[in-house]
Amino acid sequence: MRPLTVTTLGLIAALALTTARADDVDPATHQHAVRLAVGTCGACHGTTGVSGQPKYPRLAGQNANYLAAQLKAFRGQTRGDADAIGYMWGMAAPLDDETIDALAQYYATQRPPAGRMGDAALAARGRTIYEKGVESVGVPACAACHGPDAHGMGDFPRLAGQHAQYVMKQLASFQSNMRNVAVMHGVAQGLKEEQMRAVAAYLEAQP
Ligand code: HEC
Ligand code: HEC
Repeated sequence: MRPLTVTTLGLIAALALTTARADDVDPATHQHAVRLAVGTCGACHGTTGVSGQPKYPRLAGQNANYLAAQLKAFRGQTRGDADAIGYMWGMAAPLDDETIDALAQYYATQRPPAGRMGDAALAARGRTIYEKGVESVGVPACAACHGPDAHGMGDFPRLAGQHAQYVMKQLASFQSNMRNVAVMHGVAQGLKEEQMRAVAAYLEAQP
């Protein structure tokens, strides 16, 4: 095999730069996104994406590709449970792809929320489900996709520190297919309400 020439190395470096640039946001779009995030989205999600109200999901520290995909799903009206329709379809409708990417970058780079422990016994039961699943009814371990610490893995979303009420509602929406995602429908199918409550309590407490 021939050793890599300087030209080849230069080409590799140039390619790496091009790839890096795809994630970059131009300064004007970034400014526009920050103004939107703070002035508009912030009313519900908090200025840095750490919402205080259980109905509004926390976005800080969330995976950027996941966030962009969700905003496109609201805009395309494919993520459609009642709250998505009522709150987010209108919000996402005027956003172009560049603004969506810039908003996603903004939230992904904010400091994620600290966990808040509520009912410790409930959270402990939730931890078992998170780490091991519920074998008897075919529920897989959540950790397999969302990561051992629930910080997300690849483009699987972060769940740590999310409001329990929001997590509960999403699991119910996946189960009923109001939020229509095949993977999570399969996961949620076998979960009883009590088990959803437990895993949601565990996730809310996760730092
Ligand atoms: C009036 C309140 C409100 C405003 C303003 C608002 N949202 Fe939302 N947002 C919600 C609610 C409620 C949900 C949860 C919908 C559901 O339950 O499916 C949500 C969900 C989301 C999600 C999905 C999060 C996840 O974890 O899947 C993203 C991303 C999001 N909003 C981004 C934004 C952005 C960006 C803006 C501003 C352009 C914005 N929101 C403005 C209420 C709001
Ligand atoms: C095989 C992979 C996989 C497993 C296992 C899995 N998930 Fe998911 N989960 C996903 C994917 C993919 C999404 C994003 C769905 C989308 O694109 O809207 C998701 C989304 C979610 C969401 C929505 C997050 C948000 O911010 O709205 C919750 C809540 C969730 N999963 C909880 C769980 C729980 C609890 C378990 C274990 C009982 C689990 N997941 C197991 C792949 C998985």
